[in-house]
Amino acid sequence: MSVSVVLSLGFLMIITAGTTSLYVDKENPYKGGALPVKNFTLSESKDDVPRHDIVYYPARRGLYAVLLFTGGFDGAIRAEMGYTDLLSRVSAHGFVVMGVDMRSDSGTSTDGLTADRDSTRTQNPPASPAHTFLQQQDWARKHLNAYLSNQTTGVSVDWENTGVFCHSAGCSITLETILLNRTNVKSTAFLEPFSFALSGGSSVDFRLPALMYGTQFCEDFPYCCVKGMDWNYIYDHWSCPKTLLATKNQGHCDILDHTMWEICHTTHFCKTGNVDNWVEYHTFIQGFVSAFFISTLQGVNDWKYLTNVSDIPIGVMNATNDTNC
Ligand SMILES: *[C@@H]1O[C@H](CO)[C@@H](O)[C@H](O)[C@H]1NC(C)=O
Ligand SMILES: *[C@@H]1O[C@H](CO)[C@@H](O)[C@H](O)[C@H]1NC(C)=O
Ligand SMILES: *[C@@H]1O[C@H](CO)[C@@H](O)[C@H](O)[C@H]1NC(C)=O
Ligand SMILES: *[C@@H]1O[C@H](CO)[C@@H](O)[C@H](O)[C@H]1NC(C)=O
Ligand SMILES: *[C@@H]1O[C@H](CO)[C@@H](O)[C@H](O)[C@H]1NC(C)=O
Ligand SMILES: *[C@@H]1O[C@H](CO)[C@@H](O)[C@H](O)[C@H]1NC(C)=O
Repeated sequence: MSVSVVLSLGFLMIITAGTTSLYVDKENPYKGGALPVKNFTLSESKDDVPRHDIVYYPARRGLYAVLLFTGGFDGAIRAEMGYTDLLSRVSAHGFVVMGVDMRSDSGTSTDGLTADRDSTRTQNPPASPAHTFLQQQDWARKHLNAYLSNQTTGVSVDWENTGVFCHSAGCSITLETILLNRTNVKSTAFLEPFSFALSGGSSVDFRLPALMYGTQFCEDFPYCCVKGMDWNYIYDHWSCPKTLLATKNQGHCDILDHTMWEICHTTHFCKTGNVDNWVEYHTFIQGFVSAFFISTLQGVNDWKYLTNVSDIPIGVMNATNDTNC
């Protein structure tokens, strides 16, 4: 054996020993994820992060794909108020999930301190939400792995496999962010989206796998979704690959945690589905979102849990897809 062969064999062993491969969920996602999940929060004042966050992570040694999420009302519905069930259950399928509270800075005058300390923020005109979301992504790329390794040994994020998802008008922010930087993320999901970003007739003509999701009652009175700016519109103006699903007998608030759902239901803020269905619906939606990101970020190049209607455990109103590209 020559010296160079010995050397390269040794090198190969070092590489193999030092590499953890990406976690891949091979089970049926609609049955719930297998991993135990923990969380921690990040704040503007303590961590110098652009926006307050809650991070859900699998509490088991491994390398994971990563997701950033922003919620309804341009992110004013905080992840830890409205979306804990969804985000934690998606995490259990092998994702580090960062719920970004995009409006965490508004209405809290005590936060002047943070603004003063950050000179770039005080000197420049106020950033658009999409620019802030990009800053948030940059912050996460630089710091999140350090925070994770402080929480649990051996848990880290693979930034090559980043996705973003959103609910309602939070989707306006993620869509505009993608239009600003298309290479930052590998796939994206729009849950009951509302956005003007593509009205004006523009289209997304670059390749970015996308999921568009809607509910039947969302477009009913009191109109929590608007035809022409919703999942159908984004789907129709998106390149391939993409998949669309709209479910029957569900409404815009049904995705929320139970307490928030109840507030929405009793105030008739949006038309809601049946309370008896809340548990079943949440099991479906966590599986559906996870199925998409398992397919597009964990390297399972198979959309079967999304495109085979008989696998979808809930009433379907509209389903269409374009994955042959
Ligand atoms: C975060 O984890 C703690 C400890 O397990 C738990 O009590 C809490 O409910 C979690 N918080 C959220 C917002 O999910
Ligand atoms: C990680 O923990 C060490 C020791 O407690 C601390 O000094 C450091 O600031 C922590 N880093 C992060 C990113 O939380
Ligand atoms: C987009 O984001 C990536 C990853 O953060 C970065 O390397 C790249 O420079 C950005 N591109 C633009 C056009 O901002
Ligand atoms: C189903 O979605 C497609 C794609 O947006 C749309 O063209 C079609 O009109 C929808 N069908 C119904 C019945 O809503
Ligand atoms: C769709 O799923 C059903 C039930 O899991 C299965 O029997 C059927 O073969 C699948 N169809 C395709 C085209 O994969
Ligand atoms: C996806 O497209 C295929 C081929 O057009 C179709 O058979 C299938 O029903 C579609 N599934 C969904 C969920 O849209």
